Amino acid sequence: MALMSSTTRSTGVAVAGTAPGALPLVGHAVALLRDPLRFIASLPAHGDLVSVRFGPLRAIVVCDPELAHQVITNEKVFDKTGPLWRRAREVEGEGVITTVRAEHRRQRRMVQPAFHRARMPHYAEIMNEVLAEETASWRHGQVLPVSPFTLRFTSETTARVMFTEASDPEAVAGIRVALPDLVRGVFRRMLSPAVVNWLPLPANRSFVRARRQLQDSIHQLITGYRSTDEKRDDMMAVLLAAQDVENGVADAPDDAEMAAMVTGLFLAGTETTASSGSWAMRMLAEHPDVQARVQREVDTVLGDRAPTYEDLIHLPYTRAVVTETLRLYPPAWLLARGTTSRTTLGGHTIPAGANVIYSAYLVQRLARVYPEPDRFDPDRWLNATSGCPGSFLVFGEGARKCAGDTFALTQLMIVVAGLARRWELRTVPGPSKGPRPRAVLHPRDLKLQLVSRGAV
Ligand code: HEM
Repeated sequence: MALMSSTTRSTGVAVAGTAPGALPLVGHAVALLRDPLRFIASLPAHGDLVSVRFGPLRAIVVCDPELAHQVITNEKVFDKTGPLWRRAREVEGEGVITTVRAEHRRQRRMVQPAFHRARMPHYAEIMNEVLAEETASWRHGQVLPVSPFTLRFTSETTARVMFTEASDPEAVAGIRVALPDLVRGVFRRMLSPAVVNWLPLPANRSFVRARRQLQDSIHQLITGYRSTDEKRDDMMAVLLAAQDVENGVADAPDDAEMAAMVTGLFLAGTETTASSGSWAMRMLAEHPDVQARVQREVDTVLGDRAPTYEDLIHLPYTRAVVTETLRLYPPAWLLARGTTSRTTLGGHTIPAGANVIYSAYLVQRLARVYPEPDRFDPDRWLNATSGCPGSFLVFGEGARKCAGDTFALTQLMIVVAGLARRWELRTVPGPSKGPRPRAVLHPRDLKLQLVSRGAV
């Protein structure tokens, strides 16, 4: 089925509106915190550009895909400025994800080679290896807490593609221990008032401890890598060899930049992909007909082999399942930009210093773009022509588009196809709970029953 394009308005001028229900002082903050997804999904009814207020912070939410596309592909005017990115930089440092446009190009050029397509088959081997280890202890009939499994899978694959364990087992172990506390702390700290982050609370202490441990371990590893001639085939070696060539002058990353890059990649790549893996598993369990089609495809294409990177192109239905999961549950569901100068958007003037919000969750559930938008329907991606600009914002667009998109899709395909070979996933009794919207959308307390396909 072809995707429909978003409505083009005959006047060419976008409809501007204001979200109703603002309370004195707090504005829409209560509605956002009480049920963020419902609040965001309610906004298109009030226009293409909808004004909201969270306490003193005013923002414009872009509710039209084509306007969202204009915002994120014009990074000169819509930059990573504004309070949310300021806070993200306090938490994560000046990494490739958080940094403003002026600093971005250099970092992006250094990170890019680590995600070259030619490296993907090797990464896929590591993903298979980790999946085999993770599932080795699974037993027929067991009930699996899903999110801890997917988070271990993505953290472990990221750690293994990043560093050769044997290079410094102690430092790699330090990173493994620090990561979960750090990931947990990021969103809480981004949304808490600054003063709360400085209080001697246990959560703040464990975050600060984890950040220090991560940085120390990364520094230790970098020192080890720099002092050896041994050739290693991992991301760290690629990053260390990266040269930013500007005006004919080559410039390699220093230790602080390396630490920011590695931290940023862990933070960008582990929770996001883990949440999508969890949603994909839930979708399969809740749609047995879809699960059966994935099993048939995997059985036909792979037989009894684990999927290689080259196999993935021959699994179109599995890919459609992953894409449809990402459409319904985009992990990075709410992102922001700040205007660096006065500009116009959809025929409206936007002043310099305005906060502009875009949401993949919002545009990917618009009925005018995706008919029956709340229905999980992988078939909509088979033979689909590309939709209108801005209709699929899972990985962003333009110069700031996700550097790890192919890596993430490979990980997700390997989980879905790899599990489908051996296991059938079943729902367990109890109410189906909605997403837990934090910085990343996770399914709440998801547990699934594992049924060995050899036993059915
Ligand atoms: C399903 C999984 C993932 C999703 C949904 C996702 C989504 C995104 C989005 C939406 C952005 C753009 C943010 C913005 O426009 O403000 C982004 C940026 C980025 N992501 Fe991902 N990501 C995923 C996995 C990964 C992985 C696995 C890695 C690396 C290991 C990664 C590395 C990055 C980097 C480096 C950037 C910054 C790009 C730049 O500004 O140049 N991501 N990601």
